[in-house]
Amino acid sequence: MFRIILLSSLFALSLAALLNGALPDINGLPDFSDITDNVTDAVKSRMSDLASKGIGRHVEELIGIQKKLKIINKIAGEQVKHVKHGNTNTPAATDGDRLGKKNKDEVLDSLLFQGDMFLTEVQLDRIIENTAQELGWSKEVLTKLGVNSKKSLNPTRGKRQAIQHPPNDFHWALPISYYYDDNIPDVTRQVIRDTFAFYANHTCLTFQESATAVPRIHFRNATSGCFTYVGFLGNDWYGAPSSQTTCTICQGAGLHPVNLGEWFCNNQFGSISHEIFHAFGVFHHHSRSDRDDYLSLSAANLADKQFTRLTTSDSYNYGTMYDYGSVMHYGIDGMTAKESLYQSTMGAGLGPQFGDIVLINNQYQCFCQSATVTCVNGGYPNPNGCNTCLCPGGYGGTTCSDRDPGTENGGDTLQATTSDSCLTLKTSIGNDDDISNLYYQKSWFHIQAPAGKQVQLIFNKAGASPNKTNHRGGGCNYRGVEVKLISGQLNRTGTLFCGDDPALVSTSSNFIPFTSDSNLAILQIYTQLNKFNLEVKYRYVDSTTSPTLPGSCQPCQDKASNCNDMAQYCTDPNNPQIAASCPVTCGTCPT
Ligand SMILES: *[C@@H]1O[C@H](CO)[C@@H](O)[C@H](O)[C@H]1NC(C)=O
Ligand SMILES: *[C@@H]1O[C@H](CO)[C@@H](O)[C@H](O)[C@H]1NC(C)=O
Ligand SMILES: *[C@@H]1O[C@H](CO)[C@@H](O)[C@H](O)[C@H]1NC(C)=O
Ligand SMILES: *[C@@H]1O[C@H](CO)[C@@H](O)[C@H](O)[C@H]1NC(C)=O
Ligand SMILES: *[C@@H]1O[C@H](CO)[C@@H](O)[C@H](O)[C@H]1NC(C)=O
Ligand SMILES: [Zn+2]
Repeated sequence: MFRIILLSSLFALSLAALLNGALPDINGLPDFSDITDNVTDAVKSRMSDLASKGIGRHVEELIGIQKKLKIINKIAGEQVKHVKHGNTNTPAATDGDRLGKKNKDEVLDSLLFQGDMFLTEVQLDRIIENTAQELGWSKEVLTKLGVNSKKSLNPTRGKRQAIQHPPNDFHWALPISYYYDDNIPDVTRQVIRDTFAFYANHTCLTFQESATAVPRIHFRNATSGCFTYVGFLGNDWYGAPSSQTTCTICQGAGLHPVNLGEWFCNNQFGSISHEIFHAFGVFHHHSRSDRDDYLSLSAANLADKQFTRLTTSDSYNYGTMYDYGSVMHYGIDGMTAKESLYQSTMGAGLGPQFGDIVLINNQYQCFCQSATVTCVNGGYPNPNGCNTCLCPGGYGGTTCSDRDPGTENGGDTLQATTSDSCLTLKTSIGNDDDISNLYYQKSWFHIQAPAGKQVQLIFNKAGASPNKTNHRGGGCNYRGVEVKLISGQLNRTGTLFCGDDPALVSTSSNFIPFTSDSNLAILQIYTQLNKFNLEVKYRYVDSTTSPTLPGSCQPCQDKASNCNDMAQYCTDPNNPQIAASCPVTCGTCPT
């Protein structure tokens, strides 16, 4: 605490110098005049309130954090400016954007990194230092801005690609303990337990629920927002009960807060597993050092959201492929997928994906020394036991040779037939009961062609039942279909579509064939709320196949032009001709 106060008073001196125009190489740099630790009494008072709730230890620390986040905003803005971005006309989402929303509390929002991480000044310094160096800012600039450079203290860093968290750096010792505040409801506790069980099943990490263990992850609803500390930070960081105004019991308390103060992180497996991943020490996927190869960002939207691109020193990917469906990827407006079919995959609520698990297993060095299985289809021995395999999405069984049975043993393995005809897969999952289930129902389908041929899919219909809302965008969190067509990339999340998406569903005037590059196409349909209905024609094709579709492949078509207006009468027994002339809208397409 003493050191931090000392640093901030040093900063006041250098700030004065900065404002007096004493910074010689300011040309080409952003305007730093708002980088100040001069905060209003109202902000101070709010900070004091937050510190009393365990968000930071004291006001001085929060002032320092706020200032450093402002510098990071500048850096994020510069990064976006210096990268050539393509189209940034992101289609508006009608749902989604759960994590990543601005916090309602402006002061708290100004203290969070990328909306949901509470970083220490040391962590912020490290990010500023590495990203600023990449932008070519001199060390002098950083010193003047009050960033305490640690680089010289670590001679190995910078010479070669360091790992995101070198062994024992921010790592938790096992077993990782966790507990809850009294006001965390039972249903949230159950999802938290299930999430840890999921991680235990897929990694070498172990967990225990304990009200007394030191250190422990502490789930709370102390204020608005979903956010957490990142990585294990030691035992002295936080521990103030609500009655404390300063963190006098931080020493040795070993509590690591994860705040679950919004409906969308309170009982959602996707959001809770995201926050816990941060707690393990993982940053956002869209901050990966290679993200500009995959995303177009709009400077206007993103500069103030700190969508900082981390350097390889802070974000090591262990060779995993970029995955738009990663549990650590936001679906916020302002990001456009360069591979445009993945637009709705960003922000997926399905929970940790295969690549996320590969990442955490590498980060905690969870490897099987002597596995007793040989895995196929891209799987690898599960470090939890080493006698079964962890499989890419869509595969299951001990060795990943089977189709994933999904949540209710649904799904199917189908054989496509010749290029002259199309079979139809008509299926649905879920119930139209308007009840949002805690967990997704899921079915996987494998559609196979003879060796040397490709599977072609023509979607006739995909989405909610008529008369039910078809939520769109932001990761298809209510229901959707995942399409996997690229044989070399079956280990990353496929393209997600929420339903009746014009990029997915063919009409008689707009054929959109989806063709695999091998003799296998994989589909997943899933829902959390109401039915997801899918109707897709499939056939096999090869390079000699005519690009026009045979008659039997023509998608179903609405015969009337005002079908949307008539949708409410689809099931009206007195008007059966409506369902017949609006087969797409009414869901009565013939098979
Ligand atoms: C700090 O802010 C207050 C009110 O915004 C202002 O009156 C004062 O001059 C500022 N002090 C410095 C050193 O910038
Ligand atoms: C974890 O594995 C156990 C034992 O195989 C199983 O019963 C349980 O359903 C799994 N839980 C999760 C969340 O994967
Ligand atoms: C958090 O607590 C507040 C106040 O006690 C309550 O209104 C809110 O519903 C809680 N939020 C969650 C997500 O549990
Ligand atoms: C998936 O497969 C690709 C290509 O074989 C490989 O580079 C990558 O590391 C694999 N794993 C993940 C998680 O991306
Ligand atoms: C549509 O849904 C509403 C509300 O669930 C229901 O009252 C109405 O009867 C439904 N209409 C049809 C045609 O199913
Ligand atoms: Zn996050």
